[in-house]
Amino acid sequence: MSQDERFAFLAEWYDPNAALLRQYQFLFYPKDRSVEMFDMKNHCTFLRRTKYDDIKLQNLFVGNRLNVFSRQLHLIDYGDQYTASKLGSSKEKTLAIIKPDATDKMGTIIQLIYDAGLTVTKAKMTALSRKETMDFYAEHQSKSFFNNLVQFLSSGPVVAMEILGDEAVTAWRRLLGPTDSSVARNEAPDSVRANFGTDGTKNAGHGSDSLASAARELEFFFPSTGRGPSNTAKYTDCTCCLIKPHAIAEGLTGKIFNAISDAGFKISALQMFNVDRANAEEFYEIYKGVVAEYTEIARHLRPQTLRAVFGKNKVQNAVHCTDLPDDGILEVQYFFRILDG
Ligand code: RTP
Ligand code: MG
Repeated sequence: MSQDERFAFLAEWYDPNAALLRQYQFLFYPKDRSVEMFDMKNHCTFLRRTKYDDIKLQNLFVGNRLNVFSRQLHLIDYGDQYTASKLGSSKEKTLAIIKPDATDKMGTIIQLIYDAGLTVTKAKMTALSRKETMDFYAEHQSKSFFNNLVQFLSSGPVVAMEILGDEAVTAWRRLLGPTDSSVARNEAPDSVRANFGTDGTKNAGHGSDSLASAARELEFFFPSTGRGPSNTAKYTDCTCCLIKPHAIAEGLTGKIFNAISDAGFKISALQMFNVDRANAEEFYEIYKGVVAEYTEIARHLRPQTLRAVFGKNKVQNAVHCTDLPDDGILEVQYFFRILDG
């Protein structure tokens, strides 16, 4: 890494006060992990070069959203040829599905995805109808296994994810292993299908087989125009757990899911949201004036809790949870009825 290596992006930030979409040149210097921002319209420095440890190189790519000093920046283009060729070349998006037989293993599977250097950029738990499953797997409609496949995939909730990373299409299929789980157990014993699948049909996961399929399949679950297949929120006997942006960026999602399952809870709905500032303020309105739990105290008093294990400080405390039992359902409704749209 050269002394003054820097990566440049064109970034957008929605300024709620002015109700304006502002554009910045966003620079990142890996050497000292510092950032710098220029206001494109007013031709002035917006943020002078400042150290900011929370940014990871793997999160710097076009299309991603970054939190920089509480502002959510949307990286919309590479700022120069050097950045495009160093950081943009082999990034791909693919669609992963955790099939109904493996959703209770999703924490471990998501952990495998992050361990492989890939990132989850969208996620939704959904229960596909027979019709939706037939549409999704239309390419297989003439195959002998089609009925079994449709029956299996619509038999319970699945988790669909957009996965991003270097050669994501093949990388995720490599993690999955051979289609038939019993073959996988011989040929790729560490793979998802070897460990969590049963046979040629019940095989724990799906991965797009090409970039073209990935684009089509991502559009199916995460349409650019609408909301896609319904979420699975139940609104009874539940509470709302929010994994905060820093914990997602640190790749802790899988571990947190595992901790939740290990404690005996069932994750009945799941979705990744980009919460803008206005929605965040609306959501936290009821918490104004309420003293937040301190992570330091959590670490001493309850060393096994999510905040003690995954939190960093008072604000970056890994998860939000509801203070009052009645608010749990309201918060689930806020995300899964209001924001899912
Ligand atoms: P996928 O599409 O789910 O990622 O799996 P794949 O590419 O490895 O396999 P593909 O040939 O596309 O088959 C799609 C899914 O159909 C079920 N299947 N059953 N002989 C059988 O019983 C059989 N063959 C395939 C599997 O669930 C397979 O993943
Ligand atoms: Mg396939």
